[in-house]
Amino acid sequence: MSQSNMFILMVVIPLILSQSTRGKDCVCELQSSEAAFPENKLKNVEITALKCTRNITSEKMTEIDRLVLGLQHRISQLLENVSMLEKEDNGNLYAAVSLHIIELELAEIQDLMDKLNRTTNNYQLLSGQTATELQDMEETMAELERFDHAQVMEKQRENQRVKRDLEWCKDVLNSTTPAPTLPPDYCGLGSMVNVSGPKTYSLTVYGTSYTFGAWGRDAQPAPGDENKYWLVVLSSGNVHGNFIRQYSSMSTIILGIGPKDTYISSSNPTTNTIQGPNMVMYGNALYYNCYNTYSVCQFNMTTRAVSTVALPNDAGFNNKFPFAHLAATYAYTDMDFATDELGVYVIYATTSNFGNVMISKVETSNPPVISQTWSTSLHKRTATNTFMVCGVLYATRYLDQETEEIFYSFDTQTNEERYDLSIHIKKMQTNIKYMNYNPSDNLLYVYSDAYIVTYEIMFQEVP
Ligand SMILES: *[C@@H]1O[C@H](CO)[C@@H](O)[C@H](O)[C@H]1NC(C)=O
Ligand SMILES: *[C@@H]1O[C@H](CO)[C@@H](O)[C@H](O)[C@H]1NC(C)=O
Ligand SMILES: *[C@@H]1O[C@H](CO)[C@@H](O)[C@H](O)[C@H]1NC(C)=O
Ligand SMILES: *[C@@H]1O[C@H](CO)[C@@H](O)[C@H](O)[C@H]1NC(C)=O
Ligand SMILES: *[C@@H]1O[C@H](CO)[C@@H](O)[C@H](O)[C@H]1NC(C)=O
Ligand SMILES: *[C@@H]1O[C@H](CO)[C@@H](O)[C@H](O)[C@H]1NC(C)=O
Repeated sequence: MSQSNMFILMVVIPLILSQSTRGKDCVCELQSSEAAFPENKLKNVEITALKCTRNITSEKMTEIDRLVLGLQHRISQLLENVSMLEKEDNGNLYAAVSLHIIELELAEIQDLMDKLNRTTNNYQLLSGQTATELQDMEETMAELERFDHAQVMEKQRENQRVKRDLEWCKDVLNSTTPAPTLPPDYCGLGSMVNVSGPKTYSLTVYGTSYTFGAWGRDAQPAPGDENKYWLVVLSSGNVHGNFIRQYSSMSTIILGIGPKDTYISSSNPTTNTIQGPNMVMYGNALYYNCYNTYSVCQFNMTTRAVSTVALPNDAGFNNKFPFAHLAATYAYTDMDFATDELGVYVIYATTSNFGNVMISKVETSNPPVISQTWSTSLHKRTATNTFMVCGVLYATRYLDQETEEIFYSFDTQTNEERYDLSIHIKKMQTNIKYMNYNPSDNLLYVYSDAYIVTYEIMFQEVP
């Protein structure tokens, strides 16, 4: 990091505004003070993390390896973000947004450090020296965190105030400035503003026996099947399922009356068994992660035939890139299927994208075909689930036992990525294992620790 870049950073972070509006003139004066972000310390942490990775070779260390790799990636991403921020013109208000992203990155790095610390304590496999290095890294990271909370976040709020004031300035200057253009509204929904509910909350006929499962309504039902509901429980080890249960209505699924079971195979698990909870039903076919492969399975409910299509061969499966939060990993959630107004998608992560989320469109032909793929910067292990509405991916994270938060979105029409959503979902049970949106009723279908739950998505009209 060069001195001149550090200077610009210094100017960007602390902003003090004095503003006057005289007639049609608008003057916004920006002043600077305070210390720069200590990038050199981050650099040291990165170098140490690299050294540590080389030293950790035992095959028992895969978990630590993954964490260190994740840590390295987050740190290098953060460094890139910091240097990008430095390059920005100091008058550019985009800096406020970048600072927020850096704050999020730091929080994620801290999470990884904590987890790494816990893992190393558990396994006690690190040499004394590496452990000391880790300890140093942790201390440096803690210092950076303090710096962050004391400086960046505070200044960010100030920047936001400056930004608001500037917007106001602009409005005064040109009262006929049109409202900001919103992305084209393909589905006539407006933007998602809130999630209300639960609207329905119930156990299934299985009681609390199966904590992993999925349910919902066919997103593209055949005529006459519009009111049918489907349910799949992962009856083998909370990982594998071999049959789909269907009910004729919402009330029959809740009461457990008159189910019709369709078996993929009588054994479980075997080839083409359902692996992991995040499947969807579309056009009377079930789409899911096939047993022990990186492929998508399409199970035709009428013919009971299975067709498959492979994802890239570095796509995660068998618990490589599951959904997770600090206290838990959701087993075998490497692939998440989603339906929206535009069809079926599969959400997964690849090694080449550093374990970050990829979105692929699944064409529901026979056999199915992967038609389009988008890469995101969302680390899969930092999300607890995802769903799609009108071509936009939304990701949730665990806040506490009562609350899940939609914090992230990726628009496949514009590639716009946001980390600043804060839409809360009120939970009835601790863990959300499955989540999917149904475009015909605009409901979110959730499977939460053996309970089946629906939520209503609130949209705001685009003006
Ligand atoms: C941060 O860096 C990553 C790549 O390392 C990039 O994809 C992302 O757009 C950057 N974010 C900002 C706000 O510059
Ligand atoms: C790492 O773990 C040890 C033992 O649990 C704990 O005492 C220490 O505070 C932890 N360090 C950090 C930085 O969290
Ligand atoms: C890695 O191992 C080498 C040789 O055993 C040692 O000299 C070095 O200090 C170790 N590095 C760290 C970061 O533990
Ligand atoms: C003010 O509004 C007019 C008409 O909407 C537009 O043509 C003009 O570019 C605007 N000026 C500024 C400074 O935004
Ligand atoms: C979102 O919905 C919940 C539940 O209906 C409600 O309590 C909350 O006030 C809403 N929040 C906003 C920002 O509208
Ligand atoms: C399932 O099989 C039926 C009957 O052959 C066929 O009409 C339908 O198109 C198939 N569905 C898919 C998704 O291939």
